[in-house]
Amino acid sequence: MSRKKGVPPAWYKSGLAHVWLPYAQMKTARAPLPVARTDGSRIVLADGRELIDGIASWWTACHGYNHPHIRQAVERQLALMPHVMFGGLVHEQALTLARRLAALMPGDLNRVFFSESGSVAVEIAMKMALQFWLNRGIRRRRKFLAFKGGYHGDTTGAMAVCDPDAGMHARFRGVLPEHCVVELPENEESTANFARCLERHAEELAGIIVEPLVQGAGGMRFHSPSVLQHLRDAANRYELLLIFDEIFTGFGRTGSLFACEAAGVVPDIITLSKALTAGTSPLAVTIARAKVFDAFWSDEPGDALPHGPTFMANALACAAANASLDLFEREPRLRQVADIATALEHGLAPCRGLPGVKDVRVKGAIGVVELDRIDDLEGLRARFIEEGVFVRPFGSIIYLTPAFTISAEELARLMEAVVNVLHKRN
Ligand SMILES: Cc1ncc(COP(=O)(O)O)c(C=O)c1O
Repeated sequence: MSRKKGVPPAWYKSGLAHVWLPYAQMKTARAPLPVARTDGSRIVLADGRELIDGIASWWTACHGYNHPHIRQAVERQLALMPHVMFGGLVHEQALTLARRLAALMPGDLNRVFFSESGSVAVEIAMKMALQFWLNRGIRRRRKFLAFKGGYHGDTTGAMAVCDPDAGMHARFRGVLPEHCVVELPENEESTANFARCLERHAEELAGIIVEPLVQGAGGMRFHSPSVLQHLRDAANRYELLLIFDEIFTGFGRTGSLFACEAAGVVPDIITLSKALTAGTSPLAVTIARAKVFDAFWSDEPGDALPHGPTFMANALACAAANASLDLFEREPRLRQVADIATALEHGLAPCRGLPGVKDVRVKGAIGVVELDRIDDLEGLRARFIEEGVFVRPFGSIIYLTPAFTISAEELARLMEAVVNVLHKRN
């Protein structure tokens, strides 16, 4: 039911005092918008207003919201079995999904460990890497090499491999375990620095962790596939495990189904989440190559991976993920991503040269306008709502990561909103 603009529903008023919102200074944050429902690329607010969604719910809803094929799969599964524990029991949706994911992965990345969030998938990847060495009797390899601009999640281990200075967890510097964090080896200086770091610390390192092709939450920074080939070579040379965190880049976002594919690099461990269930429900996977799995294969119980989340391989989430893979198989998603890339190049071009605009860049279905700085982030976010779109700038970045199924008209309205808001700002 739609209600008068500005009059929130009863559940909103009575519940808001009891939630703690994400990334929000609760004292000063503007009130969040009550959502009644979603549909395709639309968010419908409780007062009836419709916003065109430019973010796809933190990059998850790649086929748009409420896709009927996914909804039907989840409804079928709900009637059969919403969840059953994964300890000592397995089920069709999980095993089917594991088989299908293994088939999509390059090389022998074929052993799937399920969890429920991206951060936890990263924790599991790090734990696998640490224990890979412990199981070989090597205790000194307990650090990771990670990158400036990187973001890998909000749990304690994942926070420690985010950019420790410019990242959102900078406040925890000195409190979290310290890893080696350097610039990505993109030019002569950063490549030399990366090499020096490896020479000095390789013996203490369990692995290298990177978001391949796009560092997302750290500032939507792009790098070339050759950087990833360089990391693979270095990992081989120093016998380090290479972890690709494809939680953002996985499932088509950058133009190929997985970023590792575009780079022609097989990592030792890969993490996926976000678009895995197309934004339907929480699910994540950490997928290991045979050589990683083999390090845990033994007669010794202590060599097993001590991990097992309660909602591991949730059947509803696995059903959603299988249905999402059906859509990737049946529908021309990568062509849609390429079309979105072309439209973003064209539609965001007027931002180039505007005062305060530092850079405009596009990769796949990611369009970025980087500003010199944003002083009033909350105010800027509110201006997008006034334009009838949901776009959520952060840091000094305005970005669009729409559903791949967004219509040309809806995408045009998103890009117009970005251009309008920037014009009015100047
Ligand atoms: C690359 C990357 N890794 C990990 C995460 C953490 O995922 P989650 O928010 O599901 O814990 C994110 C979330 O934005 C991400 O972009």
